[in-house]
Amino acid sequence: MFLDALQFKNNSGKPPVWLMRQAGRYLPEYRALRREHQFMDMVKNPKVASLVTMQPIQRFQFDAAILFSDILVLPDALGMPVQFKESIGPVFSEKLDLQKLKKGSVAPLSYVKEAIYLIKAKADVPLIGFAGAPFTVASYMIEGGVSKDHAKTKAFALKDTNAFLELMAFLSDKTIEYLEMQVSAGVNAIQLFDTWAGILSNKQFKELSLPFIKRIVDTISQKVPVILFSKASTAYADAFSEAKPQGIGFDITADLSEQRKRFPRMVIQGNLDPDVLLTSPEIVRREAKKILSSMKNDPGFIFNLGHGILPETPLECVQALLDEIRS
Ligand code: CP3
Repeated sequence: MFLDALQFKNNSGKPPVWLMRQAGRYLPEYRALRREHQFMDMVKNPKVASLVTMQPIQRFQFDAAILFSDILVLPDALGMPVQFKESIGPVFSEKLDLQKLKKGSVAPLSYVKEAIYLIKAKADVPLIGFAGAPFTVASYMIEGGVSKDHAKTKAFALKDTNAFLELMAFLSDKTIEYLEMQVSAGVNAIQLFDTWAGILSNKQFKELSLPFIKRIVDTISQKVPVILFSKASTAYADAFSEAKPQGIGFDITADLSEQRKRFPRMVIQGNLDPDVLLTSPEIVRREAKKILSSMKNDPGFIFNLGHGILPETPLECVQALLDEIRS
């Protein structure tokens, strides 16, 4: 069903569904494993990563699995180690040094390849691979971790534009190599996350991020379908469409039926507000219905959230969402 929608031929009347961060902390079975391991140790252990990837499929029968990993494994593999600290998030222990990273390679990411082999051997649903878009990955590398305003990233891009573009070009090449590794190991589609693109003006986005997204989409979309996602997808949908991905994952601000009018031949994914899943099964059904009826019988629609599912989400709300979509 998921692959049908990606090929614009879903005629089951029900859209396929998966959720961003579906493998994660809202699942008790994830939290149980997480108590025993550091996050990066889980990501780097193919057995554990494949197990966690399959947890949401086993519990909820989503129509696609997304690889359990993170967008920051790329800088980590290239020689800029990352750690995920409780209630802080990702932290880089070293400062960005592009000349050092240029000596690195994506070879350490073979643990991802191994995880994909294990998942493909047992999964009966398509597997989505992913990477961060160079701009979003660069912003974490420049900030040294999580940032509220991304001021350092913007200052770097504006003051030292050539060095910034050199970093972006480098990350694009490595992202292509990394995604080609995922594709050759067997993923069925790729989602590229430019989560923080919205901190840029439209013009800045077109100069500083879009050309690199294009390079990646040009190469990878020949092999498997590519979906672009940002928390600012709605604002940048026209720019995104210039990169010619097969699909766009919309944030909560989009009216999907309006987007369908603008993009008649593009896969549209989205966009229930993750906060809705914190309310009650009744409200979840009511809000899901609005999206479902606005995209009724759309052959290229994939149901998802407008951003990742929140750790506090009650399981019964996820179940209510799936029941509503499948009813
Ligand atoms: O289920 C899935 O969606 C697949 C796995 C996945 C993770 N991260 C696992 C994860 C995916 C696709 C990502 C993408 C990712 N990682 C993005 C882009 C999408 C987005 O959410 O905006 C970004 C910006 C990151 C970087 C990142 N990873 C941050 C900022 C954090 C800390 C904040 C948070 O949500 O915890 C993470 C941690 C992370 N990545 C967790 C998981 C399951 C939680 C780690 C834990 O168990 O402590």
